[in-house]
Amino acid sequence: MSTPLLQARSIARVYETNRGLFGRSAGVRAVDDVSLQLDRGDTLGIVGESGSGKSTTGRVVLGLEPPSAGDVLFDGQPIAAHGTPAWRQSRTRMQMIYQDPLASLDRRLSVAAQVREPLDIHHIGTVEERDARVNDLLQAVGLSQSVTQRFPHELSGGQRQRVVLARALITNPSLLVCDEPVSALDVSIQAQVVNLLTDLQAELGIAMLFISHDLRVVRQVSRRIAVMYLGRIVEEGDADDLLAKPEHPYTRALVSAAPSPGRRMADRQMLRGEPPNPANRPNGCAFHPRCPVAIARCRSETPELLDLGGRLVACHLAAADAGLAPHAATVPDRAKTQQVEAFAP
Ligand SMILES: Nc1ncnc2c1ncn2[C@@H]1O[C@H](COP(=O)(O)OP(=O)(O)OP(=O)(O)O)[C@@H](O)[C@H]1O
Ligand code: SF4
Ligand SMILES: [Mg+2]
Repeated sequence: MSTPLLQARSIARVYETNRGLFGRSAGVRAVDDVSLQLDRGDTLGIVGESGSGKSTTGRVVLGLEPPSAGDVLFDGQPIAAHGTPAWRQSRTRMQMIYQDPLASLDRRLSVAAQVREPLDIHHIGTVEERDARVNDLLQAVGLSQSVTQRFPHELSGGQRQRVVLARALITNPSLLVCDEPVSALDVSIQAQVVNLLTDLQAELGIAMLFISHDLRVVRQVSRRIAVMYLGRIVEEGDADDLLAKPEHPYTRALVSAAPSPGRRMADRQMLRGEPPNPANRPNGCAFHPRCPVAIARCRSETPELLDLGGRLVACHLAAADAGLAPHAATVPDRAKTQQVEAFAP
């Protein structure tokens, strides 16, 4: 079996704050025991409400922030520490695209200079080769010659995100982490940029971690989906299956609340209760204060992420429905969960 491109093994990220009792430092566990795996050319979507730890997970897997626990392997090797020469070198192979293209671009550089800059920084190719590659990529992302000498403030939002995409792809990365890449764009432009992203991802065989709160967009882009709640993955599986038949009550609520063609607003079931706050994590299952089917056990026992026949789910009831005795099986080793396992009813 080939080495996965990206492996996050039980990563946690704790932020120290000074808002604890009597001003004492209190930790905010933004990401807690998250394991992810991504093969070359594969796509994984991460969904969840605001504050569920999606962006933090993205930053940790790219080495932009160190994990407080666990580790991240890229191509089988531990990811280099942020800012080191080894980390800078690895950045040619992994890129991030953020929500706000203007913040990602250097306002003083023209479109062409912007896209070309990573090649200059890393001394990749001759001058002629760099020019040719910039032209090819600008064409690939659908930017005409007429914009190449413009500056970021002279472009539309969609054009800016195309420049960001061209710049991210210029070093031929094997991994793209996209954090809400189209959320700031008009809906009509969103579809164009998402189509472009999926076409280029498939054509170039790039692995992609796609973070969004928009299930519609995530479904379009991802082969698999991981659902996060309060820093943890609560469900993960094949994108179409998971959205058609969500097993975790939180995923069911997300799917039910999402707008979809033909479904009236009145038929959508909105998530009730307070949105998640990692500074005040409930005991037991973190979702229990909002869960419509919670049982007594949910208030005291944290459900483990179990493999229920190819779907990973962290819910006592889902495990019981699958005929899995409590605590009968766990998934300590992520590699094992790749195999579809059948449990006796
Ligand atoms: N640098 C930081 N210092 C302290 N807390 C932080 C820091 N960064 C993130 N957090 C907290 O960690 C939690 C997870 O944040 P994160 O940005 O990963 O969530 P998210 O799922 O990306 O949310 P959104 O959908 O709003 O982007 C939040 O409660 C956030 O307030
Ligand atoms: S473990 Fe309990 S509270 Fe948590 S999602 Fe399942 S049923 Fe709901
Ligand atoms: Mg975020």
